[in-house]
Amino acid sequence: MIVLENICKTYRIGRERKVHALSDVSETIGAGEFVAVVGPSGSGKSTFLAMAGLLERPTEGIVRFDGKDVTDLRDTERTRIRAERCGFIFQFPSLIPTLNALENVLLPKTVHRTYKASDEEWGREMLARVGMGDKLENLPYQLSGGEQRRVALARALINKPDVILADEPTGAVDAYNADVIMNLFKEWNAQGKTVIMVTHDMKLAGEAGRVIQLKDGRVADEK
Ligand SMILES: Nc1ncnc2c1ncn2[C@@H]1O[C@H](COP(=O)(O)OP(=O)(O)OP(=O)(O)O)[C@@H](O)[C@H]1O
Ligand SMILES: [Mg+2]
Repeated sequence: MIVLENICKTYRIGRERKVHALSDVSETIGAGEFVAVVGPSGSGKSTFLAMAGLLERPTEGIVRFDGKDVTDLRDTERTRIRAERCGFIFQFPSLIPTLNALENVLLPKTVHRTYKASDEEWGREMLARVGMGDKLENLPYQLSGGEQRRVALARALINKPDVILADEPTGAVDAYNADVIMNLFKEWNAQGKTVIMVTHDMKLAGEAGRVIQLKDGRVADEK
């Protein structure tokens, strides 16, 4: 479903310095796979997700989505693929402070102007699934860090994405809620959807179908 071919991603810092976040990374992630991405801090995990989810373009290399080369597609086209096919859970929950939990969940729909009445029902259902059914009207500052993460999770599922890209989804949540999140992913995956999850938790990584290990921007070892 997602193919990365010889991907390099270099960030410039100021005029002189460059950081090679990813160097010559090639991976194929099949439809319906559950992949965990692990590695030390700074090894390129979030950058890997940004490439696979078409959030950023590689400096070198090719990204294919459903067999199609999407590397040089126009921004509007890449945005459309993201909006229709991808669900993101960012490393930091990134909720809009002036919108309540339910409004935050519906945001991907409202912002792309694809909102339908049935979306609200689905949003409520997803919030209930992550144990947030009684906090629909809370603003983000009225939620704990772990609760904000669960709202972000419900938001990622609002478009019923074919691929979930989750950056440390279980960071800052307790063991019970980590289970809730993991079970939701497994259920999604069991319906044939693709899950790509960055985690530092080797136990959770072991529950994925495959582990991609990054080290210094390269794929280190695959199990
Ligand atoms: N926008 C950016 N500008 C400059 N450097 C960046 C940028 N994003 C990432 N980097 C650098 O690229 C490298 C890889 O970063 P990345 O965020 O992918 O690591 P990570 O594996 O997700 O780390 P962590 O586990 O701490 O989240 C790091 O050295 C980081 O400082
Ligand atoms: Mg990261």
